[in-house]
Amino acid sequence: MKLKNPSLLQTDAFIDNQWVKTGKTFAVLNPATGETVANVADCGVEETKHAIKAAEIAFQSWQKSNVKDRAKVLKKWHDLMLANLEDLAAIMTAEQGKPLAEARGEIAYAASFLEWFGEEAKRAYGDIIPSPIPNSRIMVIRQPIGVCASITPWNFPSAMLTRKAGPAIAAGCSIVSKPAGETPLSALALGVLAIEAGLPPGVFNVIPSSRSSDIGKELCSNPVVRKLSFTGSTAVGKILMRQSADTIKKLSLELGGNAPFIVFEDANIDKAVEAAISCKFRNAGQTCVCANRIYIQESIYEEFAEKFTAKAKMLKVGNGAEQGINLGPLISEKAIQKVQEHIQDAVAKGGKVLLGGKPHELGGLFFEQTVIGNASKNMLVATDETFGPMAPLFRFKDEADVMAQANDTIYGLAAYFFSADMAKIWRVAEGLEYGMVAVNTGILSTEVAPFGGIKQSGLGREGSKYGLDEYLEMKYILIGGL
Ligand code: SIN
Repeated sequence: MKLKNPSLLQTDAFIDNQWVKTGKTFAVLNPATGETVANVADCGVEETKHAIKAAEIAFQSWQKSNVKDRAKVLKKWHDLMLANLEDLAAIMTAEQGKPLAEARGEIAYAASFLEWFGEEAKRAYGDIIPSPIPNSRIMVIRQPIGVCASITPWNFPSAMLTRKAGPAIAAGCSIVSKPAGETPLSALALGVLAIEAGLPPGVFNVIPSSRSSDIGKELCSNPVVRKLSFTGSTAVGKILMRQSADTIKKLSLELGGNAPFIVFEDANIDKAVEAAISCKFRNAGQTCVCANRIYIQESIYEEFAEKFTAKAKMLKVGNGAEQGINLGPLISEKAIQKVQEHIQDAVAKGGKVLLGGKPHELGGLFFEQTVIGNASKNMLVATDETFGPMAPLFRFKDEADVMAQANDTIYGLAAYFFSADMAKIWRVAEGLEYGMVAVNTGILSTEVAPFGGIKQSGLGREGSKYGLDEYLEMKYILIGGL
C-alpha cells in the first residue's frame, strides 16, 4: 500500500498522545489477499487501565475547556481527515476489504460527525423552570458525563468511531476507544490526525487488541468509565450490559438488525430495484441496516425479481483496491459460513436460487452476489441477519400481511419501503416497529439524523442533535433564599 502520508500507518497503541508499544502484537490481514497488512500492538488489561488513567486526568481540564475551542479542534480534525481522504480510504480498504469508492464515502461520513458535533456542542442548552418554591429559582444545566469508552466494529472502522468519539469530545468528555481486532489501523490513523488537530493528550485514546473480551470486561467494570458506547451484535451487547450493571454505566448500544425492504404494487419498480440493490449490497451486505428481507407484493413479484436479479448480476466482485469493483471480500471464513448456512437452509425450505449461491471462483473470502426467490417466514433469513451478499425475496398479499411479517422480529433498527400512496406512506411509516424508516430510498445514514434502534436493536441514538445528549448529564440546580 503506497500512502502519500506514510505516518498515517501506525501500529502502536495510542495513549495520552503517545505511541505505546506492548509486549505482544497481532496480525491485521487484508481480507482480499490474505496478506498481512501490519502487526499491531496487542493491548491487554494493563494498557486499558493506562488509557483510562490518561483519560481521567485529561477530563479534568477538557471538561472546562471553551466550547468554541473544542469546536475548532474538531473542525480541524474533520478537515485533516478530508485532506488525507485518499490515504485513509486506502488503509481502510486494505484492512476491511470494501471497495475504494465506498471507503472514500465512509471517510467523508466519518469526518462529518466531527464537524457536526463540534457545532452542536455550542448548543448544549440548559433550562430555566418556573419555580413553585417561594424565593427560589430552578435551573437545569448539562455537563459532560466523564471518561467514556467505545467498542467499535470492523464493518465501518472510521465512521462508527467518530460517531462516538465526536460527540464525547464535543461534550467535554475524554474517551478510550477499542477498535475491532480486524480493523485497528483506521482508528490509529485518526490518532495521528488528532495530535495534528491539537487535541490535548489523553482526550482520545486507541487501544487495539486481539483480546476483545478482556478489554470489554475492564471497560465495563472500571468505575472511572462512566459511559460505554458499543456498536456490534445483540449477543455481545447483552454481555456488555450485564458487565456494566455493577457500575451502573450509562450505555449506548447500536446492535443487530433484520431490516425489511417492502415494495408495494403502487411503487416505481425501477427505482425500488435500484435502491434495494444499494441497500442490500453496500459493504457486501455487511451492515446492520442492510435490507435483510425483501418483501414484494404478489402482483409485481415476477417483474421485480427479474429486474433485481439482472441488476445484481452486473455487480463486479473483486479486490476493493482495484478499479470498478462493487463487492469486496467478506471479513472472515466465519462470515462466509453464515451466508452459506442461510442459503442452504433457504433452499432446503423451498427457496429458489435465482443468482449466485456459492463462494466466488476468485476463492479466498469472495462470495457470489446471491438472490433467493420464494423466501418464506420459516427460513433462518427471516429471523437472523445474514450480514453478507444474499438477498431473499418474499411475496406478500396486502398491507396487513406485510406489516405483520415485517414486525415479526426481535430487532427494530431500520426498515425501508416503496410506495406512491401518501396515506399508505404515513400508515406504514408509523406502523413499522423500527427506530429508522426510509421511504422511497435505500440509504438513510447521515450525521444530521438520529441513528439507532428499538427492541433488541439497542439503546440510545447517534448523530443528530440527540447524539450529544448521550454524553451529557443533566443537573438540576435549585437556588433558594432569594
Ligand atoms: C452499521 O452498519 O452499524 C452502520 C451503518 C451506517 O451508519 O450506515
